[in-house]
Amino acid sequence: MVLLVRSTVIGGPSSVGLAKKISAKLNARYLQAELRVFPDGESVLRIKGKPNKGKIIVVQSTYPPVDSNIIQALFLISKARQYSSDVIAVIPYMGYARQDKVFLSGEIVSISVIASLFKAAGATKIITVDNHSKIALRYFKIPIQNITAIPLLASYFKKLNLRKPLVVSPDLFWSSSAKEFANCLGTKSIALSKRRDRKTGKLRIKLTKPANVMGRDIILVDDMISSGDTIIKAAKFLKKRNCGKILAACTHAILVNDASKKIKISWSASISSTNTIPVTTSIVDVSEIIAQEIE
Ligand code: R5P
Repeated sequence: MVLLVRSTVIGGPSSVGLAKKISAKLNARYLQAELRVFPDGESVLRIKGKPNKGKIIVVQSTYPPVDSNIIQALFLISKARQYSSDVIAVIPYMGYARQDKVFLSGEIVSISVIASLFKAAGATKIITVDNHSKIALRYFKIPIQNITAIPLLASYFKKLNLRKPLVVSPDLFWSSSAKEFANCLGTKSIALSKRRDRKTGKLRIKLTKPANVMGRDIILVDDMISSGDTIIKAAKFLKKRNCGKILAACTHAILVNDASKKIKISWSASISSTNTIPVTTSIVDVSEIIAQEIE
């Protein structure tokens, strides 16, 4: 590994653990960003120490509270830019990536605004993990590298003793990643088709082609689990068809509100995710693949 002794990693409040790991892998200097929140909700950030000259890497995932985490990332990037002309923003989970087009007339393509803000704040490159949308990436007018955690997640599942495992994508959107996951496991994948009513949010799921899931252990693979509705619906659908046990893998476990509880009640699920979002399910570490991208 090349030693980037002159680089500095700044750990944003949402990604302290991951930032420390990336810093250790790069043998870079680590600086913590200290956060205070004013009574009116404004974030006040302070970098504890002076960055080295050279590359600065700001690590801040933008999971909920999405807006605060984004604004904090922008503040840290702008501060880093005062010290260096080479500022890499590591945004492991990129909020707003799902808002990549106008779905209902009058809506805003929010990710295009977010992309402009990262550039305006001073980021010269962005690294993100399993970004929800390839379309979203096109709005970034600075280099953006979207890396995947699928092989890492798959190698975790490889160690489990699963019966005739079948990888299932709960919607067509993530089917190529499910296929990649299945290839790593040496098994097959199928994709369900999911339709969400844009106004009511109601979900409908069906098979895209005939598939026999009976007796097979299922790994549901998605980029993110947010409300949990998608995987709950998919799990119910598969259970009705007498599959074996159902496990879930995702890169980003957002698990908003009572999602974990809902998932537990409807099907005592085992979810495995990565540390792009630090929660109890984050058992796969993405620091190495991010560090490789920085080197
Ligand atoms: C949608 O296209 C995504 O890939 C996920 O399936 C979705 O965002 C998960 O959200 P939720 O858990 O709220 O159903």
